[in-house]
Amino acid sequence: MLKTPIILDCDPGLDDAIAIFIALASSEFDVKGLVTVAGNQTLDKVTRNALQLVEVIGSDVPVVKGAALPLVREQVTAGYVHGESGLKTLVLPEPKRASQNNAIQFIYDTAVKLKGELVIVAVGPLTNIAHAILIHPDLKEHVKKIVIMGGGHHNGNITPAAEFNIFADPEAAKVVFESGIDLVMVGLDVTMADGLSKDEVLSLFTKHNDKTKIIEHILLDMVNSEGPGYKPWAYIHDAMALMVLLYDDLLSGRMCHVDIETKGDRTYGKTVVDYYDTHKLPKNAFVTFEVNRERFHQAIQERLRVYEQ
Ligand code: RIB
Ligand code: CA
Repeated sequence: MLKTPIILDCDPGLDDAIAIFIALASSEFDVKGLVTVAGNQTLDKVTRNALQLVEVIGSDVPVVKGAALPLVREQVTAGYVHGESGLKTLVLPEPKRASQNNAIQFIYDTAVKLKGELVIVAVGPLTNIAHAILIHPDLKEHVKKIVIMGGGHHNGNITPAAEFNIFADPEAAKVVFESGIDLVMVGLDVTMADGLSKDEVLSLFTKHNDKTKIIEHILLDMVNSEGPGYKPWAYIHDAMALMVLLYDDLLSGRMCHVDIETKGDRTYGKTVVDYYDTHKLPKNAFVTFEVNRERFHQAIQERLRVYEQ
């Protein structure tokens, strides 16, 4: 089977961690690297978390340290969801190896080497991707597509209008959405439409080992972590975005024109999805609107139970 080469650009982060577990256990992927970006927590913390997670998993995938700050705005982080460390109450052994530090060149060189086959899965703020596009305008010729966990047509989560990944660096998101690279937008319309209840988490594994216990710990930390008004679920946004590459029937949607609000007082960071094509502008993203709930729960079980071995 031909593997899909991917770079996972992430800010672990609890749901990023679940995406990392799934990515590194899915034989359909050839994970070329994890590139970290400040988001859920500061760059040093998310990079440390990524190193710790890949060592727990036993993978030698490169971890490449990316951007510490957004392009323009002041930094925002999400400790209120992911905790001070970025992995809430999870404590993992100190990482043994160091990260690499050449994120932009790593993204570009990997894309060029793969001759247009690279898929980037971006599950944090889009700062690294924007830098890569601005420094290497020809990146568009070498990247097959970018799957973005970010945005939403109907609502936000960090403000009424904006989803965190976009809100944390709207100017970077604008660069990416205007780049002309094929985009799949996996936003809150689908990632908040379903999640794992505490009961489902507790019954996820049929037998336990160190890795399954860590996964269960992360998911239990995520139940109820989004705050009041949300369902008492673990919303695994990033894992859902990653799995759109594994299951054709997981999410449905259509091509839309999407712009990023970078000037609004109350709407700063909103993904403005032209749902009814009112402006007849070029459709620059495949926007997902519906999730196949049965497939979602089956997929999570299938992809995480691999760690029972
Ligand atoms: O809004 C959800 C997104 O923000 C997820 O990627 C989560 O990890 C946080 O980064
Ligand atoms: Ca994330």
